[in-house]
Amino acid sequence: MNIKQIEEKYFMRTYKRANLVVKKAKGQFLWDESGKKYLDFFAGISVCNVGHCNDSVLKVTKEQLDSFVHTSNLYYAPSQIKLGEELTKRIFPNGRVFLSNSGAEANECAIKLARKWGFLNSSIDNRNRYEMICFKNSFHGRTLATLSATGQEKFHKFFRPLQEKFVFAEINNIGSVKKLINERTVAVMIEPIQGEGGLILSEKTFLKELRVLCDKNNLLLIFDEIQCGVGRTGKFCAFENYDVKPDIVTLAKSLANGLPLGAVVAAEKCAEAFVYGDHGSTFGGNPVSCAAALEVLNILNSKFLNDSLEVAKYLSSKLEDLKKKYSIIKDVRGLGLMLGIDLTINGSSIVNYCLDNGLIINCIHDTVIRLLPPLIITKNDVDFATKILDEALNYTLVTK
Ligand SMILES: Cc1ncc(COP(=O)(O)O)c(C=O)c1O
Repeated sequence: MNIKQIEEKYFMRTYKRANLVVKKAKGQFLWDESGKKYLDFFAGISVCNVGHCNDSVLKVTKEQLDSFVHTSNLYYAPSQIKLGEELTKRIFPNGRVFLSNSGAEANECAIKLARKWGFLNSSIDNRNRYEMICFKNSFHGRTLATLSATGQEKFHKFFRPLQEKFVFAEINNIGSVKKLINERTVAVMIEPIQGEGGLILSEKTFLKELRVLCDKNNLLLIFDEIQCGVGRTGKFCAFENYDVKPDIVTLAKSLANGLPLGAVVAAEKCAEAFVYGDHGSTFGGNPVSCAAALEVLNILNSKFLNDSLEVAKYLSSKLEDLKKKYSIIKDVRGLGLMLGIDLTINGSSIVNYCLDNGLIINCIHDTVIRLLPPLIITKNDVDFATKILDEALNYTLVTK
């Protein structure tokens, strides 16, 4: 049996894989078994932000592998401790961090932290404040609590009863948030840019109003930056574009550029709520992932981020040109190198055409092409990608 047949026979049917068996990846490129080269405009769902097999990330990772891989969180692993310091200093200098393995786990931790903080900061009788306001179309993960916090029915359908209690407001509609606040509300959780939900951007005024509303009602504001954080929008955290500071930030995906790692960084006011025994993880903050992440932070300096913004601007303008050319493009939107092309038609044939012609992209909600390239792409890469996209759009129209 070949690889595809083995997968078909032995794996639970949770993934719909494209026809690509990866042999090698470097920088912004992948190669398949036959040696065919692909330009990767998806980066493993916004994961390999500093490029596949980045040399300096690989170097420190190998050094850590050679010294030790795992010791548990009962002892001190220097790479982990240094990463915690760096992350916290960058986001909440007086705050604290918890390291996990994945995005869903980071959000689980944030939910638990909010509940504990709510318990400690409650004026109601039985002290339980646990309701969390989330948003329609959001995506926060696949564990039971994070899928309960996800505002999309398709993820809930077969898994009821869901975890209590998550309620859903509309993004960019502050009135819809106000209506949901009651004495049990403890926090508001939002992706500043909804990724899986179809590349929906929060408006600046909305996030500012949200901050004011949370302060007025003694609620925590949690930003899930698992997809939009770690340089993706040209800033280390997407919220820096909005001039609004949350109380808790969750990160994962690109934090260790492909090794599993998640982080919850919390402001002093709520970070202190957790004490010994409240939370933990065997693998969370693995020393190898942390060594890689430390180097990722090193690489993401302001020059690197500004360079990525330059290319992002160029890509956006090329996409706008395509929008003028093709009426099936309703909208081009995004921030930095997190971009969506909203179509009037199903985008799967475009994704397939691109793959056949050496460009990896993705489509969400059937009609939104999502581009999440590594942040190291060049203008030449943009020229190639937009040429293939142009051909794909043309081909789709001709064959429709
Ligand atoms: C915004 C957001 N939150 C949480 C998650 C879950 O992360 P993970 O798949 O690492 O559990 C994702 C994954 O796509 C995400 O995009």
